[in-house]
Formats: sequence, structure tokens, C-alpha cells
Amino acid sequence: VYVIAMDGPAGSGKSTVARAVAARLGFDYLDTGAMYRAVAFAAIRRGLDPEDRDAVAAMIDDLELDVSLAGVTVDGVDATVEIRSPEITRAVSPVAANPVVRTELTRRMREWATRREGCVVEGRDIGSVVFPDAQLKLYVTASVEVRARRRHQELSDMDYDEVAAAIAERDERDRSRSNAPLVEVDGSVQLDTSDRSVDELVDAVIDLWSEAGEPS
Ligand code: DC
Repeated sequence: VYVIAMDGPAGSGKSTVARAVAARLGFDYLDTGAMYRAVAFAAIRRGLDPEDRDAVAAMIDDLELDVSLAGVTVDGVDATVEIRSPEITRAVSPVAANPVVRTELTRRMREWATRREGCVVEGRDIGSVVFPDAQLKLYVTASVEVRARRRHQELSDMDYDEVAAAIAERDERDRSRSNAPLVEVDGSVQLDTSDRSVDELVDAVIDLWSEAGEPS
């Protein structure tokens, strides 16, 4: 399987670029952040405390998750919109720091990929942990200001300073957790999205792909 791994912090623009690259190459696309969000959604829906490691771990094995471009379902319930809510965004950090959750979702990501020919997978630990043998690894970044502006446009109920502070805080938690932190791995290519158009970024990734990963 051919894998393009795209890691980077919240609001870096990786989803937009990842989806467009997948469409251009005819590859499948997996949003692993949506998987962590779906687990957080399931925990809240069952009345669990997302910080309660054992309780969240106990529900993960038989949790039915379906994450695709069409949307997200959790145990058959549509959660496409809810997983983007501020409540889930707050609950997802402790869920993503739960080692049992990470092990199980990593297993599911790998299993998903075995059934594809080519895929673009985005997250925080895709090039470092999930697919260390990915043919192309991208580390997508943008300045905190640009990322806060993007998120602010999506979340009209928060002011810019609050959004910027929340992003900085979540970055810090994602980078400093002991289990699969967000890191820039050796061999990854930095893609700064601060002041390039989506089309330019997609072209750049396609060029990198034809150098790095094209089947011989
Ligand atoms: O990209 P996102 O904001 O939808 O990610 C949601 C959360 O999941 C975020 O706090 C980081 C975490 N995450 C992770 O730990 N590992 C991944 N591969 C993807 C996301």
C-alpha cells in the first residue's frame, strides 16, 4: 500500500490539503483526528468522564466506528457534526492521551490501510508511529496567528483571543504527552501553509509524491 502521511497541529490546513491530494491521486483518505473525536463522542454519550482512563478503555474494543468522507458514525449513530463541537474538542485530549485508545485506534488505522492501494492519512503520529514506512511524510504547519484566524472563522461563537489561546494550549498538550506526541520525524518534509493557496500546496505535494513514492 502507498501511504502519504500528513501530520501537524490543529488548524494547519492539513485536512484541506490532504483531501485535495487524495482526490487528485485517486487515493483513499483517512482523518484519524475524527476517529479520536468519535471515541470522545462515544464516551460523553455513555455518560463517562473522558479523563477516566479505565472506563474509556473498557468501551473501546467493541465500539463500532465508521469514519469516511461521507461522515462519521459511532455505534450506528451519526456524529459527523457533533464531533466538531467545542465540547468534544475539549474532551478529545484526554481520550487521545489514553494508551489503550491509541493502541486500538492505531490497529484499526493499519487494518483500514491494508484494504487500499493508495491512501492519504492525516493526524499527529501517522509518520512517526502508525505508518513509519510511509513513502511520503509531510509535516504541515502554519503560524499560530494564521491557524487561529482559520479556526475563528469556523467557530463564530468564540472571540479570536480565546481561539488562539485554545489552539496554543491544545498544541502544547499534543506535543508534550508521553504517548505518541506530535513530533517532526526524520525524513519528513515541512509544508508551511501560512501564505500559499490550496492549489499551490496540492501541486507541491503531488510533485513530492512523484519524486518520493511513485510506483516504479
Ligand atoms: O485533528 P483534530 O483536531 O481533529 O484531532 C483531534 C484530537 O485528536 C487532537 O487533540 C489530537 C488528537 N489526535 C491524535 O492524538 N493522534 C492522531 N493521529 C490524530 C489526532
